[in-house]
Amino acid sequence: MKKILIINGPNLNLLGNREKTYYGDTTLEKIKTICEEHSKKNQLECFFYQSNHEGEIIEKIQLVDKDFDGIIINPAAYTHTSIAILDALRATSKPKIEVHISNIYAREDYRRKSITSEAVNGVICGFGENGYILAIDAINNLIYNDA
Ligand code: DQA
Repeated sequence: MKKILIINGPNLNLLGNREKTYYGDTTLEKIKTICEEHSKKNQLECFFYQSNHEGEIIEKIQLVDKDFDGIIINPAAYTHTSIAILDALRATSKPKIEVHISNIYAREDYRRKSITSEAVNGVICGFGENGYILAIDAINNLIYNDA
């Protein structure tokens, strides 16, 4: 079975309590369950990860080429700041999708620029937790159409 890594960046562990107008009631635990179930339906094995630390996220991304067939990443605030995460993503040749729960283009100016999106195949944002499902469908297409 093909394997995908789903990485969630800083503060996403607080979903459910955090800025509900943007992120709703859903918890990261619930998103994890949804992702695992939807991956299984698509013949994908999903590894779900969250970290508040840039270096830890980079080290996980560095594993992708060797250990995974694709990556879905919500870099959270690092989306807007991290050239280091951009570089790690660029170094990965596997399919890559960026996800945001909120519509980053309908928020503050500083969220309208995604540094990391330059390195990914595509970006899904503004669809809440459902964005992860859309991202799994998208990566499934990329993985199996490439194979
Ligand atoms: C986010 C959007 C980012 O701007 C923000 O810093 C986050 C979450 C989203 O999923 O909508 O932490 O990536």
